[in-house]
Amino acid sequence: MDKINLMKTDTVMLDDENSAVVIIDQTKLPGKVQLLSLTTAQQIWDAIYLLQVRGAPAIGVAAAMGIYILAKGMPQEDYDSFYQAFAEQKEYLDSARPTAVNLSWALRRMEECVLSHREKSVPQIVEALRKEAIAIRDEDVAVCKKIGEYGVTLLKQGDGVLTHCNAGKLATVQFGTATAPIYVAEEKGYHLRVFCDETRPLLQGARLTAFELQESGVDTTLICDNMSAMVMKKGWVDTVFVGCDRVAANGDTANKIGTSVVAAVAKQYGVPMYICAPTSTIDMNIATGDDIVIEERKPDEVAEMWYQERMAPKDVKIFNPAFDVTDHSLIAGIITEYGIARAPYEQSLKEIFDKKKGGK
Ligand code: MRU
Repeated sequence: MDKINLMKTDTVMLDDENSAVVIIDQTKLPGKVQLLSLTTAQQIWDAIYLLQVRGAPAIGVAAAMGIYILAKGMPQEDYDSFYQAFAEQKEYLDSARPTAVNLSWALRRMEECVLSHREKSVPQIVEALRKEAIAIRDEDVAVCKKIGEYGVTLLKQGDGVLTHCNAGKLATVQFGTATAPIYVAEEKGYHLRVFCDETRPLLQGARLTAFELQESGVDTTLICDNMSAMVMKKGWVDTVFVGCDRVAANGDTANKIGTSVVAAVAKQYGVPMYICAPTSTIDMNIATGDDIVIEERKPDEVAEMWYQERMAPKDVKIFNPAFDVTDHSLIAGIITEYGIARAPYEQSLKEIFDKKKGGK
């Protein structure tokens, strides 16, 4: 089989012929670029929970394609039986991970598609779901491009950029959010120097961001999470770009655990930190970050995974939150596909959504 080109392969794909969602299996990276075909609800749920597909936008696209694939196998005779099966599977997929709002956002959008076509036959509804899943995918690509165009206005030739976790192409269908301005800058010949936090405990920065940036020819330096203060103090970082899993109406932002530490360090050294946020990740229904549910994951990820033998005393208590919330006061701006929102975020994010509603 030919080697798969990471940068030329979408992170999430629809294989309608085989009724499957095809993903790049991110748990195998960087060692192997391997595709995984998901056909059952259990496989889709596991892929999201186990981070075979991960990153807020990619999870949303996988869930939208997944519920469409499952809808093809649901009772087709009458609407009520179809809708009951649809609602059950939607709830199930939605339970895979709690923090990234894109999962529930995409599934709700697919449900709205079912409800708004209720007068049609079930096969027609399923066809509408196919189109909606493809629209969610296409929008993700377009949104990331726009974030790249707005984000690059914050960069200049030779800048140092620091990023945390992976908000790269592997977290979306293509381009990424936090990496989109970097890729646009590279096209313009800016020759950036990018520092990737390794991102304990699951190493998304080391395994994924460092890999995809290096594959793309970007000047990439991997650092441990506890080295960001050192590189900022040395003046090597001009801007921090990170992604997000949910942004509250006041600008408080949940992202991968450790993001708030980077934000505090950046503030200390006068480095602006920008959140790259598709509007699908902004949750105007929650007032502040205190309302964001933070996923807690298994202790083995801290004590055992990646090591040949356990690296912590047996039975020691382990706290393993997957995300933290960065206070809006530490954020220089939120880069969306409709422009860059700045404090006060209640007002600027509302303006972003007004722009979206107005189709501008
Ligand atoms: O647990 P993960 O790997 O899904 O966490 C991913 C992140 O925190 C990303 O920064 C976020 O989803 C934004 S991706 C564009």
